[in-house]
Amino acid sequence: MKVIAFSGSLRKESFTTKLLKAFEKQAPEGVAFELVDISTLPFINQDLEQDLPPAVRDLHAKIRGADAVLFATPEYNRSYSPVLKNAIDWGSRPYGQNAWNGLPAGVVSASPGLLGGFGAAHHLRQTLIFPNLAAMPQPEFYLSLAAEKFDESGNLTDETTRQRIDEFWTAFVRWAERNKREAQLVFGER
Ligand code: FNR
Repeated sequence: MKVIAFSGSLRKESFTTKLLKAFEKQAPEGVAFELVDISTLPFINQDLEQDLPPAVRDLHAKIRGADAVLFATPEYNRSYSPVLKNAIDWGSRPYGQNAWNGLPAGVVSASPGLLGGFGAAHHLRQTLIFPNLAAMPQPEFYLSLAAEKFDESGNLTDETTRQRIDEFWTAFVRWAERNKREAQLVFGER
């Protein structure tokens, strides 16, 4: 199973990206995990749709080649990051060529604060509806107090979080198997 992952933070020491690296480390056997670089995508601009930039073409190819996608977001003003929105928007365009259509998805968030990016994760879930991403409802995953959960090399040090990641993976692999993209295409290409 090919799982692509997107971090909503471009920051070098990003907790969100560190969290995804912990997911990568704990990926179950049979899962090929790829953290996709979205830093080179231009800002969404419909003028560019006539002749898609190479970074957008690469993004489309990665999405079309995936069995599932894992989104990890920081929280910016109780919402998810524009970096992630930009990638989701490009994945859905040009009109009629929505690369996301039917793809099973997981949502996780991280924050140094107490709420763990709850507001961000829920805004993100709302956005996944229109491009027809099949978001797994449970288990929810919000990493609170993120600054206390990694060592200087970026490794996860918190055992409870490790267990939650294992639980998430077990549920997510089952979700992706049960909700394969083909089964979601009842609405056709949009
Ligand atoms: C934040 N931060 C933040 N944190 C939070 O828990 N709730 C919030 O609403 C916000 N709002 C917010 C807005 C903006 C513009 C920035 C830049 C930051 C703090 C944020 O959680 C913190 O900087 C994280 O470290 C960002 O995630 P990464 O880069 O570590 O993945």
